Amino acid sequence: MIAPPLAAIILAAGLGTRMRSDRAKVLHEVAGEPMIARALRAVASLNPHPLVVVVGHQADEVRVVAQLAVGSDRLRYAFQSEQRGTGDAAHCALAEIHDSFAGDVLIGYGDMPRLDPKTLRAFIDDHRARRADLSFISVELEDPAAYGRVVRDSAGAVAAIVEARDATPAQLALREINTGIYLVSAAVLRIAVAQLRNDNAQREFYLTDIAAIARMQGRKVIAWRAHDEAEFAGINTREDLARMETQVRDEVNRRLMAAGVTFIDPATAYIAPEVEIGRDTIIGPNVQILGHTRIGAGVVIEGTAWLRDVTIGDRCQLKICVRAEGCIIGEDSDIGPFANLREGTELEGHNRIGNFVETKKARIGRGTKASHLSYLGDAVIGRETNVGCGVITVNYDGYDKHVTQIGDRCMVGCDTQLIAPVKVGDDVYVASGTTILRDVEDGALVMSHHPQREKSGWTANWHKRHAGHPKALAK
Ligand code: UD1
Ligand code: CA
Repeated sequence: MIAPPLAAIILAAGLGTRMRSDRAKVLHEVAGEPMIARALRAVASLNPHPLVVVVGHQADEVRVVAQLAVGSDRLRYAFQSEQRGTGDAAHCALAEIHDSFAGDVLIGYGDMPRLDPKTLRAFIDDHRARRADLSFISVELEDPAAYGRVVRDSAGAVAAIVEARDATPAQLALREINTGIYLVSAAVLRIAVAQLRNDNAQREFYLTDIAAIARMQGRKVIAWRAHDEAEFAGINTREDLARMETQVRDEVNRRLMAAGVTFIDPATAYIAPEVEIGRDTIIGPNVQILGHTRIGAGVVIEGTAWLRDVTIGDRCQLKICVRAEGCIIGEDSDIGPFANLREGTELEGHNRIGNFVETKKARIGRGTKASHLSYLGDAVIGRETNVGCGVITVNYDGYDKHVTQIGDRCMVGCDTQLIAPVKVGDDVYVASGTTILRDVEDGALVMSHHPQREKSGWTANWHKRHAGHPKALAK
């Protein structure tokens, strides 16, 4: 049997009043990424066409995040100008699904960042195997809180979903709840949505009412029981957000530990789900590892580090307090303490970047070291070069940034400034305190020393001239 086509709708128009925020709820981040991005990726992995996102509050921002998360190929947007409920949002979305579309529509909410594609797949398979018209995912909760309750008839079939605010005390006591994931044939959805009314406690059009409507029309409605309730937790408040952050963190850290990563204290390691870490790597306390970061094997991160989109080779050492973003740190490198590796830093390997060194768009060859107090920006530096203490690439003239090039095996003396654009050849010795204004040829010694002058007995004279000064009395 050929599977019918699949379309999907993600609702993301609400402000999320209970968040008490100026920012649309779905833009709040879980594990370093807006929750809508996570929900969308899970749904997009099923290849629905189209994938309609209902936007409203901060629509432009939500569109940007959606595009970044899943690309623009299959995305469509429906604009819901006034948030009149989840049913109204679905109604808006239907306008983006062609009338001729005769497959199934998967509907989910943008505030469910932990959806797992495998579960969604199993849910869809079950719906199709049982030839249901409408299925939705339910879970049983100890504390069903504000979730919509699943009401069943005497035969155990789904009769309705009742929102907590509209429920009778008997219904409130039910522990099976609606997670907010639905699969429904497009034809049934169109008819049911057209019949929604807002005669309820919140004066909203509830999408959940399609269950009772479909049932009344003699359709087959199924609540598919899922077991991992955490996967479907919706976020409504800051407390929900913090709780989910902790849950995601626990899960990620446990998976990494099972794969051979040591944590000094997993409670203070904040690692995004996409991050990959090799065996025998040690993660110290108080670290944030975000984005698409890849860390090799046998790496030591001492602690207090902030890393985003960084690739770190095997056996690197990150001493205390390293911040790195958008860079590559080659194998066997030794970074920090207190190093700031900015966007576009590429260390070839066996490098040393020491305390209070800042790098930006710096390509640094194998074995090259900058151990103390330097700024290396817009720089290309060769192999086995030693960058002394206090070396500065002077890259900015107030209008443009310029490149500094330094060759292989150079000794760049302390307190050197390189006024870019400038090129220093291979095997160059730069005397300390030099200001390099022009290119330097291979193998040269370069210096800009002022002659050293000396005045004997000058200090004693200096004090004598201040004999009456109040500070002189103490001396
Ligand atoms: C909803 C369900 C409830 C379920 C719960 C699961 C309804 C009426 N209730 O309640 O049965 O147990 O989710 O988490 O559907 N949205 C719009 N436009 C609107 C209103 C909402 O796009 O006009 C979006 C929101 O941005 C949000 C999602 O729909 O992402 C869900 O809305 P929310 O208000 O969080 O619904 P709940 O009250 O949690
Ligand atoms: Ca919700």
